[in-house]
Amino acid sequence: MSVTYYKRFRMEVDLVRGDFSQISVPRGYSLVAWRPELVAKHAEVKYESFREEIDAHVFPCLGNYAGCSRLMDEISRRTRFLPEATWLAAFKHPNAEKEFCGTISAVSDAAGYGAIQNLGVTPTHRACGIGTLLLKKCLLGFQKQGLRRAYLEVTAQNVDAVRLYERLGFRRTRTTYKAVESEASYV
Ligand SMILES: CC(C)(COP(=O)(O)OP(=O)(O)OC[C@H]1O[C@@H](n2cnc3c(N)ncnc32)[C@H](O)[C@@H]1OP(=O)(O)O)[C@@H](O)C(=O)NCCC(=O)NCCS
Repeated sequence: MSVTYYKRFRMEVDLVRGDFSQISVPRGYSLVAWRPELVAKHAEVKYESFREEIDAHVFPCLGNYAGCSRLMDEISRRTRFLPEATWLAAFKHPNAEKEFCGTISAVSDAAGYGAIQNLGVTPTHRACGIGTLLLKKCLLGFQKQGLRRAYLEVTAQNVDAVRLYERLGFRRTRTTYKAVESEASYV
């Protein structure tokens, strides 16, 4: 079996110096705090956000609903799951139901870092500020817990995401390669 190697960055942000308090919620949108009964909504939004994206190749579970459901279930059952840093974004269509359109979830690690699991915004709601909003709410949740640093991992090709993270103060601290069984190539 041949293998594709995906370049990934670990990116970290200083939670002691970082100020994420400037929150603006675009018109029609709202944020929904974690409740256990929302686990399936997080999984659905995760799937809709990642299914067509590079990370669905890097982590095949992100490319199908069952995989996203298992992943979200597993994250929310971890002992270091952080409900305060886990959010859904919703959009209220005029005269229609609320549509969930963004998700972020988080845990803390053994070293006391906040660890962002998956930030995703569904395609039709991108470039409205929802990704930035969810990330800031997550980082504020870490700060409320007294955490001093946070990190995430991002695929190097995902330049939109890298730019968003850099804008909020994240800096690259490590480069890794994730091996995925497929046709052989370096990406
Ligand atoms: C990465 C991702 C989360 C970004 O979400 P988003 O909601 O589009 O993010 P934002 O809207 O906050 O920012 C995106 C861009 O829109 C711009 N923007 C924000 N509000 C805007 C507005 N009202 N009008 C126009 N542009 C706006 C931002 O300035 C930013 O521009 P830039 O990339 O040129 O700097 C989203 O593309 C996504 O879900 N991708 C697939 C899943 C994924 O890869 N997740 C990351 C895994 S590590």
